[in-house]
Amino acid sequence: MNFIALGMRRIIFTVLLLAVACTGTFAQDITMLAPTPPMGWNSWNIFQTNINEPLLKQMVDSYISSGMKDAGYTYFVLDDGWMAMERDKNGQLVADPKKFPNGMKEFADYVHSKGLKFGIYNCAGTKTCAGYPGTRGHEYEDARLYASWGVDYLKFDWCYAEGMNAIEAYRVMSQALKATGRPIVFSLCEWGSHRPWVWGKDDGQLWRTTGDIGPYFDKPVTKNGWTPLTVLNILDRQDSIRQYAGPGHWNDPDMLEVGNGMTVNEDRAHFSLWCMLAAPLMAGNDLGKLTEQTKNILTNKDVIAVDQDALGIEGFRYYAFDGIEIWIKPLTGGDLAVCFLNRSGRAQTLNYDWTAHLINDTTSKTSVDFTQTTFKIRDLWSKKDLGTTQKVFKQPIPNYDVVMVRLSKQ
Ligand code: GLA
Repeated sequence: MNFIALGMRRIIFTVLLLAVACTGTFAQDITMLAPTPPMGWNSWNIFQTNINEPLLKQMVDSYISSGMKDAGYTYFVLDDGWMAMERDKNGQLVADPKKFPNGMKEFADYVHSKGLKFGIYNCAGTKTCAGYPGTRGHEYEDARLYASWGVDYLKFDWCYAEGMNAIEAYRVMSQALKATGRPIVFSLCEWGSHRPWVWGKDDGQLWRTTGDIGPYFDKPVTKNGWTPLTVLNILDRQDSIRQYAGPGHWNDPDMLEVGNGMTVNEDRAHFSLWCMLAAPLMAGNDLGKLTEQTKNILTNKDVIAVDQDALGIEGFRYYAFDGIEIWIKPLTGGDLAVCFLNRSGRAQTLNYDWTAHLINDTTSKTSVDFTQTTFKIRDLWSKKDLGTTQKVFKQPIPNYDVVMVRLSKQ
């Protein structure tokens, strides 16, 4: 090979590299952005648009001091209401100067200085759901702005999207984010209207599966003409789509309402079930007013480990009898998480013979025959060992509560 040929090769290689970098197709492996379901805190459920820098800095501080970060929560996400009502004269989004007098970059730096990742919100349509400027027609400039602030996570909503094609709209924003070169988790929040579980996995890492949750377990409550979904409403809409979730791409049954007014039993059940679903865990409560009970729920490491299990298998409703449901989630090492949910309307005592029920989950290819294999039982809430699967399992279970155990081979 002569020197000219070698030089040509170098030039061609450099040109190719530049072309790839410029088009943003220096493909990030987007599955690596969320190998397990993202965990964090989001401002919407408790504060709606009533957010501002001092309040949020207090939330950041409480996030750390309460042990949320130590328990694995990482993202701090500003939802709707952070912007000024208009873009500036250059068409750029600006943080509301009254709410964020020091600007968004300074706030993002504050979040990062505490070892957390920073998330923000916007909408695919012309406006956000609360009426602030949406991203439609500004995808690339907004993505570049977020990257310049150090945004690590974007929740992208679906209001004012009349006439838009959901698949295209989310794809364009996804490409705009990828083109920044900054790894940014992309949360598709189009409420499951266009079955994002079927097409969303190359675009983002999580997609909402339903409309909005409210702090209600079973009985919907209407406020200001609006009726959010209850925990059980949402639970009942997850079972048929579990095959679409897995490492890097998650069904998102909406953010947590733990600590926002349900009973402790209901909060525990809600949290346990979301972990059984391998759901993203986005706390949505006032971290400055965290009670011991709420903290113990949100930071239960054994229950969180079920959610964060590396296999990323979404749990399934295995069996239901007498108002009790049994949810099962296969875990690494042949372990199983089992969650008994009492939705019967009265306190009950479980009386469950493991050996009478085979498990055969074709989706995860998991089979268990308890007559052949014995498992130890660990209660993930009481932190007690409860014998083995050779004995009939007898446990009290209050109404709207769970008994959640981890089974490990003996
Ligand atoms: C939609 C979303 C919510 C929240 C609000 C903000 O309703 O589904 O999670 O982001 O918009 O306006």
